[in-house]
Amino acid sequence: MKYSAMLLLAAMGLLTVQAQASSTEQVPERPDKQAPLPSFPKMPDQAYLTLRPLSAIPDGAFGDKVRLGYQLFVNTQQLRDKYVGNELNCANCHMDAGRKANASPLWGAYFAYPAYRKKDDKVSSFEERIQGCFNYSMNGKAPASGSPELVAISAYAYWLGMGGLMDEAKISGPVPELSDAELVKGAKREDFPLPEILAKAMTVDQRANLPGRGYPEIPKPELAYSPERGKEVYVAHCQTCHGIEGQGQAIAGVYALPPLWGPKSYNWGAGMHRVNTAAFFIYENMPFGKSMQLTNQQAWDVAAYINSHERPQDPRSKGDVKQAQDKYHNDSDYYGLTVDGKVLGTESYPVFPKKS
Ligand code: HEC
Ligand code: HEC
Repeated sequence: MKYSAMLLLAAMGLLTVQAQASSTEQVPERPDKQAPLPSFPKMPDQAYLTLRPLSAIPDGAFGDKVRLGYQLFVNTQQLRDKYVGNELNCANCHMDAGRKANASPLWGAYFAYPAYRKKDDKVSSFEERIQGCFNYSMNGKAPASGSPELVAISAYAYWLGMGGLMDEAKISGPVPELSDAELVKGAKREDFPLPEILAKAMTVDQRANLPGRGYPEIPKPELAYSPERGKEVYVAHCQTCHGIEGQGQAIAGVYALPPLWGPKSYNWGAGMHRVNTAAFFIYENMPFGKSMQLTNQQAWDVAAYINSHERPQDPRSKGDVKQAQDKYHNDSDYYGLTVDGKVLGTESYPVFPKKS
């Protein structure tokens, strides 16, 4: 279905927007304490928002913020040691510079905040959600609220989403400028300034659930996921790029292929450390350039394999793995479980180490 047709249908109240809670918990007696993003199976023939090219970013102070947001997102390593403690860039997981549908795109996220997050037990603004990815996915220390970095990434996310929605609704002209204070809040609120046509076409909840947001859910595996089988998948389909030890590959000190585990990857608090979230990401987006080739079972197994290795400590841990496990884990993950005779989390690497 064309997206513009969707807007129309949404306006007429005929569109059933994805609204059910996901139920992919692998092990029901270990309830998820992290509240992953809601995820939904992919719909056949789904159309996604068409985005404006980067060349359409306007000149001037507002355009400069959007451009800076793009640059920080694709080359987050420029913040290494200041805010970033591993070798990843935001775009390694939010692919195509945060533009790719089904790779947790920024434009899908922007309209979904402020939102309640169980992980923080409070309503998070868009910038607070970004801070979460700095602290966990980037194993770093997030920039302060209202900082130029968070404003810039918010401006980029807003510009992508708003430009796409405006084009679908045939509203021409540049994306309206917003103040920094408005930008960092996100667009899931009644008082968010939207062109009237758009405000009428979709409810706040509808634009918070744009098709392509997050990583699409895949069915549960037929057999309980297994790191042993996952290793075979890894050797056959992943190792040439990501390395025997999951260490990735750097050329002249710059990582061209990102590390999946070990001291230079995401930490034990990141969404990707959960087997279900990683399986959804991998099925849809990996192997890079040849995605959607694995079976469901292979995606779950290889997700279990990469996530049953040691990685940087969960920054919420107070030094006691069991306590951190009970408080923050016990979901579909390996934190605190014994693998190859070792309790994962006990030998984990430091959070936010200096680059050596
Ligand atoms: C052809 C090389 C290649 C292959 C093969 C490949 N990947 Fe990747 N992988 C990449 C690249 C490149 C990225 C970063 C994507 C980007 O920046 O757009 C990535 C990103 C990732 C990420 C997120 C970033 C991180 O470091 O955690 C995960 C997880 C991942 N790959 C898992 C896998 C798994 C599992 C397989 C095998 C099923 C696989 N990849 C196969 C190249 C590859
Ligand atoms: C290792 C992979 C990874 C990296 C690197 C990463 N993220 Fe994320 N991000 C995720 C995952 C996984 C989720 C979904 C989390 C969940 O389900 O718990 C997410 C969620 C988000 C969301 C909310 C998406 C939504 O639709 O609600 C935003 C915004 C975001 N990340 C921004 C960033 C920014 C900015 C950076 C860089 C500073 C970054 N991420 C780096 C994996 C990553």
